[in-house]
Amino acid sequence: MRQVLGWGVDCFEQSKRLQWLEKKYTMSKYANYTVASDDYDKTRAAVGVDTILACLARTAVRLGDQTVLETGCGTGNYLEALRPHLACLAGIDFSEGMLAQARTKLSEDVELTCGSILDMPYEDERFDGITCNQVIHHLEEGPDAPDDPADWEPRHFPNVTQFFQEAYRVLRPGGAFVINATSHDQCRDGYWWADLIPVAVARLNCRMPDLDQLKQILTVAGFGIESVSADLDGILQGPSYLDPQGPLDEAWRAGDSTWSLTSDTELIDARQRVERMNAEGQMQDYLDERERKRLDIGQTTFVCGRK
Ligand SMILES: C[S@@+](CC[C@H](N)C(=O)[O-])C[C@H]1O[C@@H](n2cnc3c(N)ncnc32)[C@H](O)[C@@H]1O
Repeated sequence: MRQVLGWGVDCFEQSKRLQWLEKKYTMSKYANYTVASDDYDKTRAAVGVDTILACLARTAVRLGDQTVLETGCGTGNYLEALRPHLACLAGIDFSEGMLAQARTKLSEDVELTCGSILDMPYEDERFDGITCNQVIHHLEEGPDAPDDPADWEPRHFPNVTQFFQEAYRVLRPGGAFVINATSHDQCRDGYWWADLIPVAVARLNCRMPDLDQLKQILTVAGFGIESVSADLDGILQGPSYLDPQGPLDEAWRAGDSTWSLTSDTELIDARQRVERMNAEGQMQDYLDERERKRLDIGQTTFVCGRK
């Protein structure tokens, strides 16, 4: 039987063709940022900073006078890139490991807080703008049983809902809430290696709302949807992205939490495929084909909600 998510989006469309694969795979643990923080910056770049600044700038308060919060700030790559343009900047993340890395690259005037974005320790209407980069997919638990995807339960994303309500509370009227997230299609075709681990990608897509759902949750929280734009150029993993041996390296894989959703078996299969393509001289053609798809769809989408 096919199940449909709360907003009428069938997130199993893609995974149905993977059912036979699913049976052979068992789950391993999802992203652990205390461990990943050491290597995170080796494979991460702040993508779409100009888009974020453009959204923030369409606010009555001048950009240079704004106080902005980065939610799920991680190692502070976005805070570092945004800092020169804004009056005050704050970041919140619940991983001490990630915040420790952030502290090494930021001056003391950036206020860093260890806490959950689902229940933020800020007074109402404190910020002129809020950003959220690549965090939404971490807020919900996904299916973790090795059973047939047809048995996975429908999901309603209560944590994303709670986070958006919190963002609305701490944002000033007229402020921008800029979300950088990966759509379900981008998950499949915006990353060359996604084709190597399709079950993990299907699982990831079940952990997070797709764009229509995201917009709906934003609207219910009170935001107006001001703009939605795919970033066709930005590459989240920076220069290391097209490393043809990348999937063989644990530190490289740590740069994207999708890899944490692979089972041991799926990871072994993916590694063997990479080794074989490299050994047989097919890797460049494969990368070229996958790059054509990425250039069409991009890796991330920026959604600007306005209070
Ligand atoms: C993929 S990283 C993105 C980090 C940063 N925004 C960037 O783009 O470089 C996701 C971050 O979200 C944080 N995170 C996930 N859920 C969170 C929550 N409920 N509260 C606070 N931080 C959270 C993780 O600790 C991690 O640092």
